Amino acid sequence: MIAYLKVASIALLALLDLTVARPSDCRPNTWLNLKPIPVPRQEHSTVALNETTIAVIGGVHIEGASASSTDLVQFYDIPSDTWRNGTSIPYGINHPNAAAVNGRIYLLGGLTDGALSPGEYINWVATTGSFLYDPATETWSELAPMPNGTERGSAIVGVHNDIIYLAGGMTVLQNYQDSLTTVNAFNTTSGSWIRLPPAAANIPEGRQHGTGGVIGNKFYVVGGRWFGQMNVRGTVYELDLTNQEAGWKTSPFHMPVPRGGLAGGIVGERIYTFGGEGDPNTITGVFNQSESYDVKSRRWSELKDMAVPRHGTSAVAIGNKVYIPGGGLQQDGKVVDYNAISQIGSMRTVSSGPMKSWPQSGRLA
Ligand SMILES: *[C@@H]1O[C@H](CO)[C@@H](O)[C@H](O)[C@H]1NC(C)=O
Ligand SMILES: *[C@@H]1O[C@H](CO)[C@@H](O)[C@H](O)[C@H]1NC(C)=O
Ligand SMILES: *[C@@H]1O[C@H](CO)[C@@H](O)[C@H](O)[C@H]1NC(C)=O
Ligand SMILES: *[C@@H]1O[C@H](CO)[C@@H](O)[C@H](O)[C@H]1NC(C)=O
Ligand SMILES: *[C@@H]1O[C@H](CO)[C@@H](O)[C@H](O)[C@H]1NC(C)=O
Repeated sequence: MIAYLKVASIALLALLDLTVARPSDCRPNTWLNLKPIPVPRQEHSTVALNETTIAVIGGVHIEGASASSTDLVQFYDIPSDTWRNGTSIPYGINHPNAAAVNGRIYLLGGLTDGALSPGEYINWVATTGSFLYDPATETWSELAPMPNGTERGSAIVGVHNDIIYLAGGMTVLQNYQDSLTTVNAFNTTSGSWIRLPPAAANIPEGRQHGTGGVIGNKFYVVGGRWFGQMNVRGTVYELDLTNQEAGWKTSPFHMPVPRGGLAGGIVGERIYTFGGEGDPNTITGVFNQSESYDVKSRRWSELKDMAVPRHGTSAVAIGNKVYIPGGGLQQDGKVVDYNAISQIGSMRTVSSGPMKSWPQSGRLA
């Protein structure tokens, strides 16, 4: 059984100064705690509706022994440092694939709550359901569903002009989880799904819980994991979207600290990565590392460690700040039946020390 224990009600930060509480007062490479999300959660998606509004979409809300998907959408207003509820999505969804294009939010599949078998704590399965949020009407409407066989959550998402690209992802997260190589795209102008040329249609190895995005004409897929939480990867894959027939390339420069369940944001020519889970060296299993990758020089740099290390969150960059709302404070699956973990082939061995347990409800230090 996988136990999901703690969620952070934390909010954002980035490149900020700890002594002030306004995003506008930020200084480089410092962290600032902003107004917490009213409803704590993890495994959500975060997008920027415009220069002043951030949307936190879906995710998992943990209450006592239950970890269920939420349909909640909450907006954060940067100038006033305040939150408000938005129109809920049609049903609870976690690990949603989401992007904002031209001020509208596209939610393209994700995972939903499946029926629980005895002894199961979670059973999340992929949905093809896709929806559009229009702020003018504050409503969600249905989009063409993900094509059968491509349904998944936890994909790495990139936007290039009017096209949303989705790389990797997973179809199931219970005692077992998979890890897909699938890459496809959604045309927001035509409202239809795009099948990519064969060389572009699969990343070199399955990834979920990774990060990345588009810089210039290239789509980057950074870090993530191949199957379970401990099987973290530090790869950087890239695809030239203007020459998709050339296929995916793997950068020779890996992340200094490979991480899955990380959050990322793009500022200029850099991909910023934060936190994650699968750290065998911390009691929580959560990474505190912040590292950025310069796509021009292909060099990684270390940044200031996260003030509150988290995983299972999603970040968005606006201007030169990266906002990171919510997330988990403890690795999901850290308190585990190790047999369940070792079912997955080629998983890195989990140390077999005594099982540790953590309080059911976390408070932030
Ligand atoms: C926002 O939604 C949450 C969850 O449904 C609810 O508990 C809360 O009261 C709502 N907040 C407001 C201001 O309506
Ligand atoms: C951003 O979007 C929000 C929500 O629709 C809206 O209230 C706000 O006025 C917009 N801000 C700008 C600068 O367009
Ligand atoms: C996709 O699968 C669903 C459920 O199995 C089925 O009802 C639907 O007809 C399929 N759609 C297409 C286009 O094959
Ligand atoms: C997206 O759809 C528009 C409208 O149908 C079309 O003109 C455009 O070529 C499509 N883009 C891609 C990359 O398929
Ligand atoms: C971040 O984690 C590393 C390795 O676990 C540790 O050495 C370092 O002290 C941590 N940083 C902070 C600010 O706690």
